[in-house]
Amino acid sequence: MNRKVTRRQFLAFGGAALAGAALTGSRGFADVGPRALIPLPREGGQFVLPPLPYAFDELEPHLDTQTMQIHHGKHHAAYVKNLNEALAKEPTLGNQPLESLLGNLAAVSETIRATVRNHGGGHYNHALFWEVMRPGGSTLTGPLAAAITASFGSVEKFKEQFSRAAMTRFGSGWAWLVVTPSRTLAVASTPNQDNPLMTGVVEAIGTPILGLDVWEHAYYLKFQNRRADYIDAWWNVVHWDKVAELYQAALRL
Ligand SMILES: [Fe+2]
Repeated sequence: MNRKVTRRQFLAFGGAALAGAALTGSRGFADVGPRALIPLPREGGQFVLPPLPYAFDELEPHLDTQTMQIHHGKHHAAYVKNLNEALAKEPTLGNQPLESLLGNLAAVSETIRATVRNHGGGHYNHALFWEVMRPGGSTLTGPLAAAITASFGSVEKFKEQFSRAAMTRFGSGWAWLVVTPSRTLAVASTPNQDNPLMTGVVEAIGTPILGLDVWEHAYYLKFQNRRADYIDAWWNVVHWDKVAELYQAALRL
C-alpha cells in the first residue's frame, strides 16, 4: 500500500521538496532498502552492545563520565537485551537487519512489535548517538556545511532550529537531522525511542545522520532539569566529520 505524503508530513520536513515522494507501507521487508550506516554488531545472531568509540571520560567537561557509563552500560545495554529477547520469540525474523525491522514495523508480529519499536529503536538511536560525538568535536565543513546553509539559511540557523526541536520535545525523545527521501535536509523530533527510519509510524521519514538524546537519563546527573544547558554543551562534542560521512552515505542509499 502506498500513500501520498500528506500536508502534515510535508510540513514536518520544514517545507522540504517532497513533491512526488511516496511513503512505503506494509509490503514486506524486501521492499525496505538497506540503511546500514552505523555499526550494529551481532554475535551468533544476537545484537551486542557496540563499544563506545572513546573512553567514558573523554567527553568531559561537556558530558560527564558517570552519565556516559550509565547511559551506555545500563540504558543502551538494556535496549539491546530486550530487543534480543523479543526477537528470540520470532525466529522467522532470522537475521533481518535492524534497519529493515524498524523500516517496516507493520511486518513485525504484533506480539513483539512494540518491543522492537521501543528497544530496537533504542538500540539504533544510541548506536548512532555514540558515533556522532567525539572528544572535542570536529569542524563542520565541505558539502554538508553547504547543504545545511542551503537548507536552513546558515549553520547558526540550523543549530537554532535543531536546538528548538530538542527543547520543545515534551517528555522523552530525540532531535534529528534527517536526509529526506528527496535527498534534502530536515530537522525533526520524535517521542520515546522512535526514529525517522520508522515508515508508517513517524511523520519525518528519512535517514537520520545526527541525533540528540533528550531523555532525562542523558543529562539529569549533571544538568538536572536544565535541558537547554545540556543541548548547548552537546554541540561542543558533535563529530561533524562523522555526520558528513553519514550524509554522503545517506545520499547513496
Ligand atoms: Fe539515552
